[in-house]
Amino acid sequence: MSKEIIAICPGSFDPVTYGHLDIITRASGMFGKVIVVVAGNTSKNCSFLPEERVEMIKKCIPDLKNVEVVHYSGLLADYAAEVGATAIIKGLRAMSDFEYEFQMALTNKKLNPNVETLFLTTKAENMYLSSSMVKQIALMGGDISSFVPEVIKQDIIDRIKK
Ligand code: PNS
Repeated sequence: MSKEIIAICPGSFDPVTYGHLDIITRASGMFGKVIVVVAGNTSKNCSFLPEERVEMIKKCIPDLKNVEVVHYSGLLADYAAEVGATAIIKGLRAMSDFEYEFQMALTNKKLNPNVETLFLTTKAENMYLSSSMVKQIALMGGDISSFVPEVIKQDIIDRIKK
């Protein structure tokens, strides 16, 4: 992959999990610059404020020097054009993700023909992992240690139980 390319890793990240972090880490090794974009998803009611989601991601990746984390409330295609990003990186867990991801990729291509969506297959151990599962487990007092890094574990528990 070209180190000239600016790539964006968008998502709700409500909250970020080991699944997301694996994709972000792999993308950071493939591209010169990666911008993790905490974006709005109108079909989701997020539990964490965008700023909280940004902070949690930053806490998890202090060593990834070519990765920036931002919040953007507009269209991803517009953000990509603004920052000159030509790749959108998404993780694919299973076939159930595919239809939704395919639709978003085609829509983003229509809105910004200069941007390509690239899919990274998730690690096998993260296949089942989702932010909503993490929230449900935290809410019911379960152990979320194997789903999120220690450094954000308490932030999640505190927020969910509020
Ligand atoms: O983690 P998610 O919820 O699957 O991520 C979806 C997200 C946030 C990437 C998507 O909803 C998005 O791109 N939102 C920004 C607004 C936008 O551009 N919508 C049109 C997408 S085709």
